[in-house]
Amino acid sequence: MLRLTGIVKRFPGVVALDRVDLEIRAGVVHALTGENGSGKSTLARIASGALGPDAGRIEVDGVERRIATPKEALDLGIVTISQELTLAPTLTVAENVFLGRLPRTRFRTVDWPRLLADTTEILDSLGVRVDPRRPVSELSVELQQEIEIARAVSSRSRLLILDEATSSLSEAATSRLLEVVEQERAKGVAVLMISHRMPELYRAASIASVLRDGHLVADVPLPQTPETELVRLMVGRELGDYYRKRAIDPGETVLEVRDLASLDGQLLPTSLSVRRGEIVGVAGLVGSGKAELGLALGGAIPSVGTAQVLGRDVDLSQPRTALAGGIGFVPDDRKRAALLPTRSVAENFSVAWTNQLTRAGIVDTRTERQRVREAIERYGVVTASASSRITTLSGGNQQKVVLGRVFARDLDVLVLSEPTRGIDVGAKSEIYRLMQEFAAQGAGIVIISSELPELLGIADRILVFFRGQVRGEFTTGGLEEEEVAHVAVSGTRLESAA
Ligand SMILES: Nc1ncnc2c1ncn2[C@@H]1O[C@H](COP(=O)(O)OP(=O)(O)OP(=O)(O)O)[C@@H](O)[C@H]1O
Ligand SMILES: [Mg+2]
Repeated sequence: MLRLTGIVKRFPGVVALDRVDLEIRAGVVHALTGENGSGKSTLARIASGALGPDAGRIEVDGVERRIATPKEALDLGIVTISQELTLAPTLTVAENVFLGRLPRTRFRTVDWPRLLADTTEILDSLGVRVDPRRPVSELSVELQQEIEIARAVSSRSRLLILDEATSSLSEAATSRLLEVVEQERAKGVAVLMISHRMPELYRAASIASVLRDGHLVADVPLPQTPETELVRLMVGRELGDYYRKRAIDPGETVLEVRDLASLDGQLLPTSLSVRRGEIVGVAGLVGSGKAELGLALGGAIPSVGTAQVLGRDVDLSQPRTALAGGIGFVPDDRKRAALLPTRSVAENFSVAWTNQLTRAGIVDTRTERQRVREAIERYGVVTASASSRITTLSGGNQQKVVLGRVFARDLDVLVLSEPTRGIDVGAKSEIYRLMQEFAAQGAGIVIISSELPELLGIADRILVFFRGQVRGEFTTGGLEEEEVAHVAVSGTRLESAA
């Protein structure tokens, strides 16, 4: 279906792809793996007409082609669902699903009844419940991603490219997407799948190509190739124990939350406390209220109730006041995380420090440059230079900057929502190490995550949300994933554990 030969792509200061060959066959799910910044998205963008290669040959069905624009890719049946959302926020769900191919009446106006009916049919088939007349900007990140998927599968595609399409989806939605992928594959569609989640790749793909620093290092069969081998190919070394469990000795209470509830009704009055040195995991399905707990603590959504850090009341009415009160919050959505998109990596780091580095209104630029260099090193940010624009970084590397900014402040409480989304296996263990270090220095950490293995590995205690409230609390030693999942799905504990 698609053959790429000798593809080269250079950006200022980096060779993103160096003579890469890739052959994607009809009826096959082909995984593309590699660390953050290894060139996966760049290759996907070249195949989908969003970027032109500096050298190399592209063949579709054995015929050499120049795929100069996304429109040309679409005409060839190449459809992409990408890491960054591309919906038009002010348009409705239905308009987004059929963007560029809206059904028309004989008067050339939009045929709304048909548009709504067609959209409803597609959404139903994907198990997505949302009013097709709602503007997309009102929807959660997860729903927006599902709308992107609906748009992709409803356009008749021959090659479907999924660039971390599942990274903002819950387990149930991921499962549905993988079923759709399997149906498409069975119809003869070729699928190129990029994901940092190993279980998905092993479930869906039959071959994996591995990129390292822009080079294709191997094509291996799945599921026959063991995960340790695949990871070794990606990172070029053995990865040690993922979660280094540590003995904790929790100190005084650092965060005390009383009857915190979001005004949208998603989070019902919830109380919890976190002690110094503790990492508290928060589990639950999408819509369980776990995301709203983070947003409320970060001052990002209106809430009632109280939060105290070391006995002092924190004003949760705005992100700025929550931060001033000692709560650092990293939301699950990079756009909301207030990265400054037009600014450099250095500027994005240093906005977090200007208060500390300013004496009488003058910024100490030498110290600042030094600290930015250290941060880039410490958080393993792959970038051509400190002055590169943040948006030129790969998705995972942008995430490392978001986390690094918060880690770099001396805060008593960190609330992290899906912190390792889009982060490669090597960098993940690095982030877990940083979290543990931070806790060991006396901070209290709340980590909200959809990935149970991650919570079981890193948290000392797990709170499970169901319909807006905490319905289960576990300590993690010897805890089984099943016990947590049962509460998340039903709101009650497993019989045997009760
Ligand atoms: N527009 C751009 N300008 C400059 N450099 C870029 C640009 N796009 C990508 N790069 C660089 O090319 C390299 C490959 O990036 P790419 O986005 O393809 O990585 P990736 O494998 O998709 O990583 P991730 O897993 O983090 O999404 C990185 O070093 C990145 O900084
Ligand atoms: Mg990418």
